[in-house]
Amino acid sequence: MKLIILGAPGSGKGTQAKFIAKDYGIPQISTGDLLRNAIKDGSELGLKVKKVMNTGKLVPDDIVLLLLKERLNQRDCENGFILDGYPRNLTQAEDLEKITNILLVINIEVDHGLVIERITGRRTCKKCGAIFHVKYNPPKDDETCDKCNGSLYQRGDDTEETVKKRLLTYKNETIPLIKQYERQGILKTLKSDGTIDEMRLKVGTLLKATFSHKS
Ligand code: AP5
Repeated sequence: MKLIILGAPGSGKGTQAKFIAKDYGIPQISTGDLLRNAIKDGSELGLKVKKVMNTGKLVPDDIVLLLLKERLNQRDCENGFILDGYPRNLTQAEDLEKITNILLVINIEVDHGLVIERITGRRTCKKCGAIFHVKYNPPKDDETCDKCNGSLYQRGDDTEETVKKRLLTYKNETIPLIKQYERQGILKTLKSDGTIDEMRLKVGTLLKATFSHKS
């Protein structure tokens, strides 16, 4: 099962990708996480990446592709994976086609008016990457992860100003890609108009319907 999950910042793609990974036993590969890990390493590459991420623009395609290829070569990807946040433009989609075949692209559509509140209220676990929201999915303790007791933090690019720039990047770079997958007939769009659990059900129903036909 090789899938892509796409959507604007704050659409909930990371949250749903984690559920899919758990429910189907495949790894979630988030290029945002791969890039944040590169930043943690403190390398020259990490510094370059950090600067770009804080502007809300896309990190250069060659850097992301390098990190992605390295990750896809790991053994846990042999039986499939869910790509979260890759590809994000037409060039990346072409690069991806050269290395693997994707069966389904899930496009999570969200009203952009909801995004700022979702993103500025997000809290992420430093240790296990679990995602919370101060209002919509609050942790039991404001500063501690319910799952692993790690510390919760707010991402450096989760400010209102940067989110607006990220939305613009999404509109200019990623929307054309969505149209392309639609033409290829592998795109399924779900509207993010329910709670996190309601969205999980919608995604589950879509996956069952899609993969019962294919197996
Ligand atoms: P990335 O980390 O991928 O961020 P993003 O695309 O901006 O998406 P987010 O992680 O902000 O949102 P999400 O849709 O995953 O939402 P989540 O589930 O967390 O990328 C960051 C940066 O890295 C990019 O700007 C770029 O610079 C770079 N980058 C990454 N990939 C790249 C690539 N391929 N090429 C080049 N550069 C790349 O949910 C958000 C919040 O809402 C959470 O708090 C959650 O609890 C809550 N929530 C979720 N669903 C719901 C719901 N249904 N109702 C209420 N609240 C909800």
